[in-house]
Amino acid sequence: MHEAPPPGPLPYYEDVSPGTGALPPRAWTAVSDARRVSLAGAWRFRLSPTAQAEDESFARPGFDCSHWDVLPVPSHWTLQGHGSPAYTNIRYPFPVDPPRVPTENPTGDHLRFFDLPDDWPGGAAVLRFDGVDSCARVWLNGEELGTFKGSRLPVEFEVGEVLRPRGNVLAVRVHQWSSGSYLEDQDMWWMPGIFRDVTLIERPEGAVADFFVHCSYDHLTGEGTLLVECDPQGTVSVPELGLDIATGQSVSVPVEPWSAEVPRLYDAELATEGERIPLRIGFRTVAVEDGVLKANGRRILFRGVNRHEFDPDHGRALDLETMRRDLLLMKQHNVNAVRTSHYPPHPAFLDLCDELGVWVVDECDLETHGFLEVGWRRNPVDDEQWTPALLDRAARMVERDKNHPSVVMWSLGNECGTGSGLSAMAAWIRRRDPSRPIHYEGDRSCRDVDVYSRMYADHAETEAIGRREEDPLEDPTLDARRRAMPFVLCEYAHAMGNGPGGLAEYQRLFETYERCQGGFVWEWIDHGLRRRTPDGRTYFAYGGDFGEELHDGNFVCDGLVFPDRTPSPGLVEFKKVIEPVRIAGDAARGLVTVTNLHDVADLSGLAFRWTYEVDGERTDAGPLKVPALGPGESAEVELPVLAAASRPGEGWWTVRALLAEDTAWAPSGHEVAWTQFAAEHAVPRARAAEGAPHTPRRVEGGLVVLGPGTFDAATGTLRYLDGTAVRGPQLDVWRAPVDNDMGSEWHQDGRLDNRWRALGLHRMHHRVDRVSVGGDTLTVATRVAAAASDLALRAVFSWSATGDRLRLAVEVEPEGDWPVPLPRLGLRLGLPAALETAEWFGGGPGEAYPDTRQASRIGRWRSPVADLQTPYVRPQENGARADVRWARLLRADGSGLRIEGEPSFWFTARPWSTRELEQARHTHDLVAGETLWVHLDHAVHGVGTAACGPGVLPQYRLAAAPAAFAVTFRTEGGGRETPSTLRSGRRPDAPADEGDDL
Ligand code: GAL
Repeated sequence: MHEAPPPGPLPYYEDVSPGTGALPPRAWTAVSDARRVSLAGAWRFRLSPTAQAEDESFARPGFDCSHWDVLPVPSHWTLQGHGSPAYTNIRYPFPVDPPRVPTENPTGDHLRFFDLPDDWPGGAAVLRFDGVDSCARVWLNGEELGTFKGSRLPVEFEVGEVLRPRGNVLAVRVHQWSSGSYLEDQDMWWMPGIFRDVTLIERPEGAVADFFVHCSYDHLTGEGTLLVECDPQGTVSVPELGLDIATGQSVSVPVEPWSAEVPRLYDAELATEGERIPLRIGFRTVAVEDGVLKANGRRILFRGVNRHEFDPDHGRALDLETMRRDLLLMKQHNVNAVRTSHYPPHPAFLDLCDELGVWVVDECDLETHGFLEVGWRRNPVDDEQWTPALLDRAARMVERDKNHPSVVMWSLGNECGTGSGLSAMAAWIRRRDPSRPIHYEGDRSCRDVDVYSRMYADHAETEAIGRREEDPLEDPTLDARRRAMPFVLCEYAHAMGNGPGGLAEYQRLFETYERCQGGFVWEWIDHGLRRRTPDGRTYFAYGGDFGEELHDGNFVCDGLVFPDRTPSPGLVEFKKVIEPVRIAGDAARGLVTVTNLHDVADLSGLAFRWTYEVDGERTDAGPLKVPALGPGESAEVELPVLAAASRPGEGWWTVRALLAEDTAWAPSGHEVAWTQFAAEHAVPRARAAEGAPHTPRRVEGGLVVLGPGTFDAATGTLRYLDGTAVRGPQLDVWRAPVDNDMGSEWHQDGRLDNRWRALGLHRMHHRVDRVSVGGDTLTVATRVAAAASDLALRAVFSWSATGDRLRLAVEVEPEGDWPVPLPRLGLRLGLPAALETAEWFGGGPGEAYPDTRQASRIGRWRSPVADLQTPYVRPQENGARADVRWARLLRADGSGLRIEGEPSFWFTARPWSTRELEQARHTHDLVAGETLWVHLDHAVHGVGTAACGPGVLPQYRLAAAPAAFAVTFRTEGGGRETPSTLRSGRRPDAPADEGDDL
């Protein structure tokens, strides 16, 4: 007990070898007629603080573990009440001294007792582990089987000789840290455990040791060629094709090819003397030709995501249903490609990709990014003693996954720097499977790969690459080779928090330049771990919530879906941007141009429908006949001539492409693509009689009354609108910084949030310079500026009223030389929280910002205020609705307030203040108060994707510049509430955030 490791050779968990005792890697299949026993379920478990704290006696039959805990397997023990998870992005959470690991090395001893089924035949059998993080030593019935590393890779041991009919004892010792940890520095939670299946599989005499399905498609002849290599020899039958051939025999027949869009699979069976394996085969050929990546002779475009395996309760221990859910959500959002960042997924996931149709870049379980922190010294991929471990990883991936039509590229790993180990992996893979191109992003020379790949290249650089005009490599041969390669962005558009902005501009490049074959958004899912507050509210935890010594905060929450897989606005935007059918309206000509952007599929699977709305109310709708255009084809289709087109109001056409039939991933009627465009002429609506203008008059109590408005005479602040208490609108420029405002070196503006704060934008003072009553107008001039700064915004508020309408016109003039864009420019006002429902005519239903507004459509929307909030895992600015012509805020009884824009505004309403939003670390920190805070913004700064990648594009920056805008307020149904909190007075020049504390 408690002994230091003996001097001499390193213990198995520290030596660089991949392990001992394992069988050669081979293809994975979900089923065969050989019997299987799943060993998932309740295991016994003991956690020790170090690798050597306990001896090996637990592995012997008869060991008394009755006092041990019970642990479900598969699982991460850190999510089952033992120890805690920890998050770092790049940095190793231990001293960098490869291959040594810390003495504090949480070690989980696992025991599983099992009997064999009565009909178990005896003879050979293998014990298979699909994923154990990070290193294990295994015994069966007291006999040591071996050791292994490679967390997201399978391993099998021969166990036939050791198995007994009854009372088998499987003992597995798992170390959190091993030499393998140096190869597994992916940006994710460090979470040890047996987190994938453990299975016992019978190996009858003559069973399949391994098999390799070669299934290509010749697009010129329309023939597929099938060849199955198998050890031992056997036969392959494909009933639908009338094939019954020997393994090793190649045959070509006319087939329908497999693609992500049309995932045609043929049921087949591989039979050897001892085993029958059902197969689902897909014919397809992937090749780089003329500098373009093609499948079945056609250029393909990746509308991809990077997918980590994650579940908020189970970490990387995913069940089949969750895997399927991921893929259904992806398909429903027009995603057609997955990079398995940064390790091979659960093998069953790839069966689902074959079935549902997704292009897969299968990435090896390899990342050594933490060596960046030490100048890449002793990087394992550049040190030959590690090469066997790297080759072992490459082989375990390729052998396991080689039979999937969905896998179209092998990726060597992620962010490992450069080195000969990578070249060795590439050479091995090329020999073993010349049919798939090789990907690796981390070596700009591209010496080992077939595709040029980058991450987070900005739009301008992507465009230069698209033109094949990128900066040259020093070596002219390598440069020429790389310049002739297709290009993918293996990561782009960092989906952290509010964003990513700029997706549409990337997509335009992908559609313009043949060489730019799309990319993979970083990333699919927020890795927030579900936790509960003591009073039972759930929230998602991120780095730092587990007392980690080093951590990278909420950088682990950067997905298109929230941890519970609710789509974020970013996914809705992505779906719109990557839609595979482009519909462009031309109201003047009364037609739409439909373009089929699919790579393979024609439009016969889609039904088109149009609707016409006036002021957000549907007047007409009907089907639109669109020809079954082939990929790349366009057609002009006429719209009907409508009587409603002459109806007064704002007319909008919407044309949608819907699934005509149920598919494996969505029911008929599911919307795939859409467009909206305004009718050629908006027919002005006759204005309702507004009544005569009111004249402002001073009344007792230091007030000014102007129509429905009551103002503080000294400050000019609106106090009441009819009976509704108002915390008068103030000019507002601040937002709770979004993660993308906090991006650093990538951003042309530097860390925007810091620069904003340095200028005091979060603590602006409002000085009243003049309150004057003249004619029909109440004029309030203010100077809005921060302490210690001479930059300011001068704002003149001109209030006027007719009938029950109160109009505010604002003129803003910046003073000084503003070096940064403004977060927002608009009005902020406080209203009673009883106004709990919003209704609006404008962009919706979801949030939008200037560079994330493709999915926002003009319509009439209604939502509880609570649901206007987007629950980003780390709270931040959210929830704006674009192009809002008017909004109503309503009490339960239907009374409320109406706000009209001239012509529109950005509308945000939230039951907490900007300061509360900014200070919250988790969603449960936000508690609805008595004030509804409403933002009516004239303009908003974009969000960009600078959390990792480029900042806000120039056209979406909000420069401080002169501006003028106006809104009109009117109460509806008579306001009644005047909560005392809102009535309370407030110094006119109090800083904005003081006001937040109402
Ligand atoms: C990339 C990396 C990803 C992730 C991302 C930022 O550099 O490959 O794993 O860390 O940055 O979220």
